[in-house]
Amino acid sequence: MTEPLLDVKDLVVEYPGSGLRGKPFRALKGVSLDILPGETVGLVGESGSGKTTLGRAVLGLAPVTEGTIHYGGQDISHLGRRERRALASEIQVVFQDPYSSLSPSMTIEEILAEPLTASGTPAPEAKKRVGDLLDQVGMPSDAARRLPREFSGGQRQRIAIARALALEPKLIVCDEPVSALDLSTQARVLDLFIEIQERTGVAYLFVTHDLAVVRHVSHRVAVMYRGEIVEYGDGDQVTSAPQHPYTQRLFMAAPVPDPDRQEERRIARRAVLDAEA
Ligand SMILES: Nc1ncnc2c1ncn2[C@@H]1O[C@H](COP(=O)(O)OP(=O)(O)OP(=O)(O)O)[C@@H](O)[C@H]1O
Ligand SMILES: [Mg+2]
Repeated sequence: MTEPLLDVKDLVVEYPGSGLRGKPFRALKGVSLDILPGETVGLVGESGSGKTTLGRAVLGLAPVTEGTIHYGGQDISHLGRRERRALASEIQVVFQDPYSSLSPSMTIEEILAEPLTASGTPAPEAKKRVGDLLDQVGMPSDAARRLPREFSGGQRQRIAIARALALEPKLIVCDEPVSALDLSTQARVLDLFIEIQERTGVAYLFVTHDLAVVRHVSHRVAVMYRGEIVEYGDGDQVTSAPQHPYTQRLFMAAPVPDPDRQEERRIARRAVLDAEA
């Protein structure tokens, strides 16, 4: 049997309460989940259910109150700063917002070379790798000299993906990485994620509230409800024949009998949202 790359066991995350005697808030209440090498685990659930918190705990950005997180057999639940930094070449992240995740004053070359030089790659070599990274995400090499503001949301997300790939990680936490993009761009960026995985064998923890997205990318799907995983299993199984009442409600609220109709509905919904924005 393959050893899991990531193994989360009975994870509890409590955020400190606000105010002097504020009660701590338990955002995760004993979550267990594993990810195999090269696998995509989709994490779905309504807003506030704890999806981002789980991703952040894996990245060492949310406090582990109880339980453990193992990566490649190593307990990473409570790492010091230096050990955490060493793990950056193994676990990377792509966030939702391509507009705020890239420093506005740095050129694309500086953005992509930074993780490399920070991990000890000599500057000239790092510079050479930048062109290769841009190529991997379908961006022209002359993008290197430009600034983030010169690119569209989809292009910026490609750049963020290139940055995540720079150190050849084995796991990328993707938190709603296509949610801010329009539909056709979403599809292309999702295909890029899949293509990169086929080529490099990277695993993804793929957080999304979009059920069409989760169906498209996931090998297995975990469903989160109020800080707990209520269902975890094969992607097709969970999305087409969910067992838990919450998952049934979640997926039935968004039936997909006809992909074209669904596409129309999503465009209509987006138009409404855009009009409100
Ligand atoms: N830093 C924090 N301090 C206190 N509470 C927090 C903090 N971050 C998140 N929470 C709370 O933890 C719960 C889970 O939040 P989380 O961001 O993980 O949800 P989510 O599933 O990612 O939601 P969304 O789909 O809206 O992104 C929420 O009730 C949220 O208010
Ligand atoms: Mg979130």
